Amino acid sequence: MVFDYIDGAAGQEEGARRNRAAFDATTLRPRILRDVSTRSIGVPLFGKDAKVPFGISPMGMCNLSGPGADLMLARLAARDSVPLGVSTVASTPMEKLIETAEGHAWFQLYFSGDGEGTFRLVERAKSAGYETIILTVDVPEVGRRPRELRHGFTMPFRIGPSQFLDFAVHPRWSLNALFRGRPQMANFEMPGYSFDRTESRARADWDTLRRLRDAWPGHLVVKGVLHPKDAQELAKAGVDAIQVSSHGARQLESATAPILALPDIRAAVGPDLPLFFDSGLRGGEDVAKAFGLGADFTFLGRILQFAIAAGGEEGLHRLWKVLCDEVSITMAQVGVNSLKHPDLKAAVEAPGPARI
Ligand code: FNR
Repeated sequence: MVFDYIDGAAGQEEGARRNRAAFDATTLRPRILRDVSTRSIGVPLFGKDAKVPFGISPMGMCNLSGPGADLMLARLAARDSVPLGVSTVASTPMEKLIETAEGHAWFQLYFSGDGEGTFRLVERAKSAGYETIILTVDVPEVGRRPRELRHGFTMPFRIGPSQFLDFAVHPRWSLNALFRGRPQMANFEMPGYSFDRTESRARADWDTLRRLRDAWPGHLVVKGVLHPKDAQELAKAGVDAIQVSSHGARQLESATAPILALPDIRAAVGPDLPLFFDSGLRGGEDVAKAFGLGADFTFLGRILQFAIAAGGEEGLHRLWKVLCDEVSITMAQVGVNSLKHPDLKAAVEAPGPARI
């Protein structure tokens, strides 16, 4: 059940496959005989220096993948000065996460219901010292994910007979959950806060964004953008960055592959507005492709949780190192010493832009 919650995507999961197919169809044409002995995979991010070109996507209930997963990710964010996306429905309180990440945490906000609780969370994030908020806008309703439905997966986490059976045949996971605590939606454990994952988020509109812009003095990132016209409106509304994403294909099965939407969106907003990218990144070459197609930073999702589930904190660090090596090797092959080098853009051969 936990694997299917993390791995699953919307509908028959064609969106997830299509996004991967788009990555695979995107090629990099190598250049030769350039001195690439000195390379840096670090990139600037909101005026600071991130040591690696990828951060951690906000993901709800990470501790399902392993006890203490949220804190493992937070420690890694601190070590490499990259953002830890802290989900509205994180399994560790937002205060603890920003402290562990030594400030390298961005709070991800879901608008829900009439917005009252949402704006209280904004104030709480401000008090906790967050400087960046990510507003996720691609969940007006939670997408239908048949693999979750089949297992009766719910948040808050409930254990009925079929879940009990599932846990019985996965004793390592179950004993850990038993002794180290059942994963909770930790931002809602205090009085006055409640969150129903299935509650409609459909009332958010451009007015909501304006209110948030007025209420939030820090950086504001809007995540889940695939249309160039929306990107232009967001730029006008004064957001600080846009995250091109299909929520890892977990929302709209037929959504445009984000990697194909990226160049259109870059063209629509011009060269200066920071663009972030997530969805379907599985290796260092993918990260390089996203930079070549216009991204200024990328975010990883599922693979981080798989690494933790398979090998705990050590597994997470191993995956992270592999990705760093892959990015660096890709840069050498393509003949650039920085991900900001214009020749990276020239090296990317992408299958035509999405027709929208
Ligand atoms: C997510 N994602 C997500 N996004 C968000 O804004 N708030 C959230 O609470 C969550 N929760 C969540 C849970 C799980 C288990 C997954 C896998 C994903 C989406 C996430 O931030 C990101 O957009 C995708 O995971 C990126 O795609 P890949 O890298 O997983 O393919």
